[in-house]
Amino acid sequence: MDTQNTDTPNKGTPNKGESPLPPERVEWWRKRVTHFPEARAVLLPLLHDLQDHVGCLTREALRWAADFVGITPTEVYGVATFYWMYEYEPRARRQIAVCHNISCDLRGKDQVLEAIRDELGLAPGQRKTDDGEWSLRTVECMGSCTTAPMMAINGEYFENLDPAKTRAILEEIRSGKHELPASPETFAPHPEVVTTYEHEEAKA
Ligand code: FES
Repeated sequence: MDTQNTDTPNKGTPNKGESPLPPERVEWWRKRVTHFPEARAVLLPLLHDLQDHVGCLTREALRWAADFVGITPTEVYGVATFYWMYEYEPRARRQIAVCHNISCDLRGKDQVLEAIRDELGLAPGQRKTDDGEWSLRTVECMGSCTTAPMMAINGEYFENLDPAKTRAILEEIRSGKHELPASPETFAPHPEVVTTYEHEEAKA
């Protein structure tokens, strides 16, 4: 069964600008993009890949992604800013995401946030510590409502929080007693990932 699309106007060939991705990665995406009816279908994982390589979604990276999938930079920006996983300035080494949805809200997320800000010396509204080590943001439900309030740091969940427990967790991380996952949210597909389409091709 031929699952490759041959009608997509843009086959994943940027028409301007130097690629922020290594050439072999661009090649990987060029191959993947032909499996979808429209090139824009790969936009979200492509943005994750760019973010992982560049460190954040720079203007150049957004423009390059727009060229690659054949839509405007404004459209790319509109899609990217809908999701909280994308960053537009260099990411902190330790990224805290506190859920602010209903269960966590009712069970004390404000006190958790206050404890974090106090521990890290963050002013209200300040998203990153001056040394760039920690960042803090509030996010939508992370699916752990029964253990609210909760936060994730570099993707690792910490649940049933209260201010004292929150402070203790931060202290353990700072002192090296607790090791976080090295890489923050990384959703970009690995080059070895075999897609459903490739399975279908192999069976055909
Ligand atoms: S409401 Fe906070 S994890 Fe669901």
